[in-house]
Amino acid sequence: MNKSEIKERIEQLSTSLRQHNYNYYVLSAPSISDFDFDHLLKELEQLEAAHPEFAEENSPTKRVGGDITKKFDTVVHEYPMLSLSNSYSQEEIVEWETRIHKLSATTPTYVCELKYDGVAIGIRYENGKLKQAVTRGDGTKGEDVTTNVRTIKTIPLQLKGNFPEKFEIRGEIFFPLTNFNRLNELKEELGEDLYANPRNTASGTLKLQNSSVVAERGLDCYLYGVYGESLVAQSHSQAVTNAGRWGFKTPDPTKNMITTCTTIDEIMTFINYWDKERGNLPFEIDGIVIKVDNYIQQDDLGSTAKSPRWAIAYKFKAERVETTLNEVTYQVGRTGAITPVANLEPVLLAGTKVKRASLHNADQIAKLDLHEHDSVYVEKGGEIIPKIIAVNFDKRQQGADPVEFIENCPECNTELVRKEGEAHHYCPNFVGCATQIKARIEHFISRKAMDIDGLGPETIDLLFKQGLIENYADLYLLTFQDIVELERMADKSANNAIKSITESKNIPFESVLFALGIRYVGETVAKILAKHIKNIEALIAADFDTLINVEEIGDKIAQSIILFFESQTNREIIGRLKEYGLSFEMIVAEDASDLLIDKTFVISGVFEKVSRKELKELIEKNGGKNTGSISAKTNYLVAGEKMGPAKLAKATDLGVKIISEDEFLAMIS
Ligand code: IVH
Repeated sequence: MNKSEIKERIEQLSTSLRQHNYNYYVLSAPSISDFDFDHLLKELEQLEAAHPEFAEENSPTKRVGGDITKKFDTVVHEYPMLSLSNSYSQEEIVEWETRIHKLSATTPTYVCELKYDGVAIGIRYENGKLKQAVTRGDGTKGEDVTTNVRTIKTIPLQLKGNFPEKFEIRGEIFFPLTNFNRLNELKEELGEDLYANPRNTASGTLKLQNSSVVAERGLDCYLYGVYGESLVAQSHSQAVTNAGRWGFKTPDPTKNMITTCTTIDEIMTFINYWDKERGNLPFEIDGIVIKVDNYIQQDDLGSTAKSPRWAIAYKFKAERVETTLNEVTYQVGRTGAITPVANLEPVLLAGTKVKRASLHNADQIAKLDLHEHDSVYVEKGGEIIPKIIAVNFDKRQQGADPVEFIENCPECNTELVRKEGEAHHYCPNFVGCATQIKARIEHFISRKAMDIDGLGPETIDLLFKQGLIENYADLYLLTFQDIVELERMADKSANNAIKSITESKNIPFESVLFALGIRYVGETVAKILAKHIKNIEALIAADFDTLINVEEIGDKIAQSIILFFESQTNREIIGRLKEYGLSFEMIVAEDASDLLIDKTFVISGVFEKVSRKELKELIEKNGGKNTGSISAKTNYLVAGEKMGPAKLAKATDLGVKIISEDEFLAMIS
């Protein structure tokens, strides 16, 4: 190719990739396979690397982040970023509508929209190119977070169609719930404090210095307003429709996410619909915004210093109830972590009876200033377990003592420790604390670990009490007689348990590694370790540097692995397990390939040619990854018969590629 051909090819590739990105992320309607997309992207990357003079600043290759912002510059908003007047009462919405109606020469048309619970952003475009993205700040000036905003896939870097030369678009950046929950699952595995809610986390994420971390987290953005000198629209609804045509993610009227109407009844119908349905959205909203549609009417109505008169927000009441704290109890986990639990006077919240709420750790108790028998407010946000929001101090009983975090293990009485920088207190009696030992055995036999059936927590407790098991290796010495003699144990169940223990010797190394219960080594980390370090001897011998050189293994995990294998007791137990025939080595299948490397799959339904289990094995054998639930990171949903409708809807929503069993088999053939 000569120079001009190369330039042309770069332009062609950029335009085509931009359109595919738009179809995938904004429309959730992919128009090309991931494989072909990656192929085009690679071609563009190579051409740009060889000919940097033709590389565009907004090229589709520049989406993964990597730029670091040391300090976010302050920027004065060209149009002040006002807020909305809020109301929790439907009567006030009626009053507002009546007032607007009276002030208007003609019957006003309203637009009802969702009030996205995220962070406001103003993004300036010039000649169709993203120039600058600024947070709301104090409304007059905000912070320049352009580098981070550029990594959000639904925000176009280059517009298409008939856009104005210069304008600003405003919208809300938010954390989709699947991505937020995934982030918290990771925190949980690491034993760290969880992020409190998607909104604050979205806001924190936007201010991260490393934009590649922002890119990974998967923020999203809906647009709700266009500002500029020449806007080529007469009304808000028109502007939003236009913005959709330029490539922005805008609310979908066919899903009732936005509607135009003229009467208060229609406004109320919209409000009530979403008050009921908001739990089914893949992101959080905290209310409904009602706007006068016509720009001239908006101008006539004007704004106060703080908020426009032409719009109002109806806020949903957070589902919150008040109840009494009966007592705080403490749970000991298998790693020795102590979790305080609030035992509450049972109360109905969002349709379920709540008796307990997590208090997380000592800092949380102190922050709430929790006293014994306090009356507390409990809230349920999204899919997160109920939590205590605050104490009703007016109802505090005179002379009530503050809740004091325990100093000794509630199970073995050992003095608790709390290391600097850690959120949790720990019981350090790893080898002697009965609760920890039993919890470790329960973890060992759990489905995702050694998958041993027939031994519930009560049986484990009995076996332990009778001195038949002291650690998980002892399970392999149990006889039919040992089990059948336990209380309430029938022949059949005892047989099953023994059979299941024997069968567990075939469980692959990665699951055995997970079963060992090394702190911070969850299912995912165990898989990564097994894949890279291959066998237990190498893992025991691995030093800190070797470990942190493995992808996704950080300091904390590495230290924990080293600590685990430093223990003579642990090494002895592993030696015995090896003797009993458990797999401590990664078996590489002969027909393995890396055809599906870096691809994440979800399978759903039943299949004709292969079983679900075989399908999963095929995915892993070829380098792919299986996950149970669909998220923005899922590449393919392999759909069988009788697939769950929820999975299908979610995949369609997120634009995950749905393939049949045959299509999958063709991919690896
Ligand atoms: S319109 C001048 N529409 O709510 C009013 N705001 O207090 C401009 N928000 O800071 C805002 N969803 O971040 C508008 N559909 C929506 C919205 C919305 C969420 C946020 C926005 C603003 C706050 C208002």
